[in-house]
Amino acid sequence: MPAGQTRNRTRSRQWFERAQQSLVEGVNSPSRGATVYSSGPIVLERGQGSHVWDADGNEYVDFMMSFGALIHGHAHPVLVKTVSQAMAEGSHFAAATSAEVEAAERFRHMVPSAEAVRFTNTGSEATMLALRLARAHTGRSKFLKFEGHYHGWYDPYLLNAHSHPPDQLGPLENPARIPDSDGIPLSTFDDVVLAPWNDVTALEHLLKRHGHELAAVITEPIMANMGCILPRDGYLQRLRELTRDYGALLILDEVVTGFRYAPGGCQEYYGVQPDLSTFGKALGAGFPVGAVAGPRSILDRMRWNENMVLHYGTFNGHRLTMKVVAANLDLLGLNLPGKDQLSKDLRGKDLHGTDKLSAENTYRNLHAVGNAAIAGLREVFRRRQRKALVQGFGPMFQIYFTERDAIHDYRDYCKYVDTKLYSRFVHRLLDRGVYMTPSNGLHWIISTAHTEADVQALVDAADRACSGLS
Ligand SMILES: Cc1ncc(COP(=O)(O)O)c(C=O)c1O
Repeated sequence: MPAGQTRNRTRSRQWFERAQQSLVEGVNSPSRGATVYSSGPIVLERGQGSHVWDADGNEYVDFMMSFGALIHGHAHPVLVKTVSQAMAEGSHFAAATSAEVEAAERFRHMVPSAEAVRFTNTGSEATMLALRLARAHTGRSKFLKFEGHYHGWYDPYLLNAHSHPPDQLGPLENPARIPDSDGIPLSTFDDVVLAPWNDVTALEHLLKRHGHELAAVITEPIMANMGCILPRDGYLQRLRELTRDYGALLILDEVVTGFRYAPGGCQEYYGVQPDLSTFGKALGAGFPVGAVAGPRSILDRMRWNENMVLHYGTFNGHRLTMKVVAANLDLLGLNLPGKDQLSKDLRGKDLHGTDKLSAENTYRNLHAVGNAAIAGLREVFRRRQRKALVQGFGPMFQIYFTERDAIHDYRDYCKYVDTKLYSRFVHRLLDRGVYMTPSNGLHWIISTAHTEADVQALVDAADRACSGLS
């Protein structure tokens, strides 16, 4: 067993060795392999609620939750039943189904800006489609993306989505342009205006120069790709005003935040009306799905005609997945009181305490459990005299080992965050029964399955992991 590791992972190692014979790096995405997990990935076999079990039978509280997809945890009984029934009836017809209608109706009920919705199979497909729609709608081809934001693996989005050493970043208002992938023609990025995020002045300057030629500005409402970076007060609202002034569409990428912060996502939580928004992850509660939502005036461009925006796909509106989406949204919406009042309450200070764990409402619980975890971790780091920031609120947060009081953007993250220390910390948590990715660019996820006991297990494990951490 490697030094410091308290759990037997023999079978995980055997599977990983075998995986490398057939799979590149032994996995299907580099973020799951040995690049991130220093002693090799933990091979997971089973999940129930907020817990997972690995190939050696070790049990963990799962705070990664499939990168946020598992909004109800693992194997929720309602979803298990839904899937079994749908499977027995026929998983997919690639034809019109009542299942897609029921999913779309629930979606529209929850997301305020969704006059219509188009389902895709992943978040990447959704952001890809949103850009095509924006270009068709405006007749412009350029778009603006922000440093450090990740919108999936479609070519034009793969600029400065990874972190880099601070000396490579270039000046703030003219950032160095660093492609994230080989194999993309550099000309693809001719249409991309790159901007720093969370900086109104820089944005105003850039839009003065490029605003009139932009089809869209795409942003995550909370920057989830460098951990959990919150928008400064009024930033999203100003972005909304400016995009409107310049005739560029605002695409809010809610693939991470959608159905997590409020029934209608961050657009509802922060009160921002996007032109288009994209969803994924929590929408499918563990099944692969994405969505583009917006007004009919834009989405109707996909209607069949000579000038249509093409969006095809054998698996679009996959019947089994649509059944899961409908059941998932019913679970999330269960007992929702007046939705508007709930959004106001979620924004209110009264939910940022730890005293609301017993609140019966799904979203109130998500926020309360997450806030309890954040408060508990902050207390551990204070007691252990660790310079650590626990940033975020409610259902999503990240830990940054840093001297700073806040991480506001990509550059702060690249300059001030000790990502290697974070990785060592999380490896220690893995040895103490907490499952999380050691990559600092991701974030801790609270699902409806997490409990006070899970929070306590995390806090205890974090406390022990701090002892001797270097
Ligand atoms: C903000 C954001 N947009 C889009 C995507 C792409 O979604 P998917 O991985 O489902 O293709 C991701 C994935 O992590 C994301 O974080």
